[in-house]
Amino acid sequence: MEITRAQLTGFRSYEACELTPCEGVNVLLGDNGQGKTNVLEALYVCCTGRSHRTRQDRELIRWGAEFASVRVDAMRRDGSHEVEIVLPALGRRRIKVSGQEIARSGELMGHITGVLFSPEDLRTVKDGPAERRRFVDMALSQIKPAYYYALQRYARALKQRNETLKTIAVQPSYMAMLDSWDEQLSTAGAELMRQRRAYIEKLSRAAAETHRDISDDRERLEIRYLPSVTMGDDAQANMEALFTARETDVRRMTTSVGAHRDDVQILVEGRDVRAFGSQGQQRTAALSMRLSELDVMREQLGEWPMLMLDDVMSELDPGRRRQLVGRLKGIQTFITCTDAEDLAGAGVGRAWRVEGGALKQL
Ligand SMILES: Nc1ncnc2c1ncn2[C@@H]1O[C@H](COP(=O)(O)OP(=O)(O)OP(=O)(O)O)[C@@H](O)[C@H]1O
Ligand SMILES: [Mg+2]
Repeated sequence: MEITRAQLTGFRSYEACELTPCEGVNVLLGDNGQGKTNVLEALYVCCTGRSHRTRQDRELIRWGAEFASVRVDAMRRDGSHEVEIVLPALGRRRIKVSGQEIARSGELMGHITGVLFSPEDLRTVKDGPAERRRFVDMALSQIKPAYYYALQRYARALKQRNETLKTIAVQPSYMAMLDSWDEQLSTAGAELMRQRRAYIEKLSRAAAETHRDISDDRERLEIRYLPSVTMGDDAQANMEALFTARETDVRRMTTSVGAHRDDVQILVEGRDVRAFGSQGQQRTAALSMRLSELDVMREQLGEWPMLMLDDVMSELDPGRRRQLVGRLKGIQTFITCTDAEDLAGAGVGRAWRVEGGALKQL
């Protein structure tokens, strides 16, 4: 997949800008705080409907502006795709796919596909399980819109079950209502678990290979799914787990078991990199995971998604940089950097100077 044009209006530091990237390596060059990441963020919003930096749409709207909008045109094997997202300061966001306004947010998924590696990715490795679930959820939602809908169903049922648990504390007769929420939660949860297991198995295989290359054969990376329900990924096992947890859940007024408690373990040389990895090992593990996400997405989608690398080059030693650059062939890539020297050997196709929220093609 290739982005042929991107237009940002009132998005972060941009009043209005347009770029027509090439199919190879595109570079955004500029000093700190000039608006490089903002461009990648806008592209990422068109892939997933969400920013990687904030959940608040308002933060994406240029200060003082009435709305922010991003439009991305892409060429894929099956033809052209366009996504346009308008985020008004007041009111609901509007999304158009190929000119048609969509009714459900899931309809956005899978049109513009991309993988973003950013400094925030270190959190996937270092922070709590929520970050790792998000890593998996965002990739799977782009590959399979059905997964995104299952996530939504799950979140709704979970909210209702938790509310019911709170009601039970004052009205014990509401206990019977748990049955129906348990059932909905189990069906959606089982679907999430099955897809997560299959995805993480593929990811782990790809990541082992990527990591071996990037670390120059020095390190072994393994990614393991740690489901919250250990008896099985089916609805029945989820039902039983919820039933067993009922007493605890009523006491704590929250749901203690299910897909929202899943985790993913990342091991380097057989040890949990979260606890035992050095900063550099954690960074490389995060990079390997993103590059593997790219591989798995290609396998599933039948074509490469685009790749966005934010602030990556300067952090890698020359060997790792070479390995990374070697992988970019045939993949439309967007790279941000402050120093053009860091790009030696990257085969830059098109470059822009980013300054004070304006883009100038070099
Ligand atoms: N809603 C907004 N409206 C206007 N300007 C904004 C908004 N949000 C962020 N900015 C500006 O965008 C700039 C940050 O842009 P960005 O994160 O893209 O920088 P960058 O070029 O990636 O910098 P670095 O090299 O430090 O990562 C900040 O200077 C900030 O003032
Ligand atoms: Mg930045």
